[in-house]
Amino acid sequence: MIRLIRPYIDFDDVKDDFKEVFDSGWFTKGKNVSRFTEDISNYTGSKHSILTTSATTALSSCLKILDIKKGDEVIVSDFSFPASANVIEDIGAIPVFADIDPNTFNMTCEELEKNITDKTRAVMFVDALGNPTGIHNIKEICRKYKLPLIEDAACAIGSSENGKRCGNISDLTCFSFHPRKLLTTGEGGAITTNNSDLFERLKVKLEHGCMKIDDKMCFVDYGYNYRMSELQCVMGIKQIQKLDEIVKERNIIRDDYIKELSSLGFKEQKTGKDVVYNVQSLVFLVPEDVNRDELIKFLYENDIETTIGTYSLSNTHYYKEKYKDPLKTSLFIEKNTITFPCYRSVPVNRISSLIKEFMR
Ligand SMILES: Cc1ncc(COP(=O)(O)O)c(C=O)c1O
Repeated sequence: MIRLIRPYIDFDDVKDDFKEVFDSGWFTKGKNVSRFTEDISNYTGSKHSILTTSATTALSSCLKILDIKKGDEVIVSDFSFPASANVIEDIGAIPVFADIDPNTFNMTCEELEKNITDKTRAVMFVDALGNPTGIHNIKEICRKYKLPLIEDAACAIGSSENGKRCGNISDLTCFSFHPRKLLTTGEGGAITTNNSDLFERLKVKLEHGCMKIDDKMCFVDYGYNYRMSELQCVMGIKQIQKLDEIVKERNIIRDDYIKELSSLGFKEQKTGKDVVYNVQSLVFLVPEDVNRDELIKFLYENDIETTIGTYSLSNTHYYKEKYKDPLKTSLFIEKNTITFPCYRSVPVNRISSLIKEFMR
């Protein structure tokens, strides 16, 4: 079976450093946490970073330090994993879904502006499947309306637009290190920001609401422990060193797929011309006459694991019941996209032959 994902890390990569952690007995808040935190800042070019247990806890923490409350509206890209909306819903705020561009799969400026009301408190732009195309234009609109921009970059470590890496564009950027991501720590996440005031608030929130005042620990707020452990950070340190190489390799494989599949009518997710795309998920729009679900089934029967692109949040059961009708473009993209395996040993020719067989 050709699996969808293969992590870019082996036990051999970490065993010496794991042993050092075990020998030291120091499992949290140690030198590996400091180093990985610094690595994230250096890699993304952001002033500040803070590690978390996941992108979900990262996004949730951002909403909390922005003081977003019950009844406030947060505009969020409709094509995403439900976590993007769930964190908004969780604090009693209202996720306002914004439809996407049919080529890049990202929230459009028109959709953003259309949804701004006097209750809007923040914007959550999702780098769909790792693609940051359009984030700078969205940022301009956020500046115009004085709205904080949270970037859900769960999938976008290693991507950039206009020469700026994800993590160094928005007010707050959240990453995921879940095993489906290019860089995995098992579970894990990070927040980056160039805003020192937001960073100070995050530090307190993620330290149980505690800060040092006159050398004494003082619980000035309520807060959380969403920390990553030393062992997880060892994994992160090893992978971030080879991230650029991984991104290059995935783009070569993406080009191979495009060569094979475009003549069959498949369309790749498009990126802007000043974008480096990390190809977190290699997603294609299937031709009109192809039944996407049948294709996924057929490929699976032939030992190739594929899956859907991702979800139209307004079409998920919970949000559809609670809010309104699904958004048109994002629903169409949800129903007609497929994710292919994308790593060095993937037999692109064989996959393409199987698709031809299926289409016949
Ligand atoms: C766009 C997006 N946001 C948030 C998440 C949640 O990430 P995590 O599993 O690290 O909480 C995911 C997970 O895949 C995602 O794709």
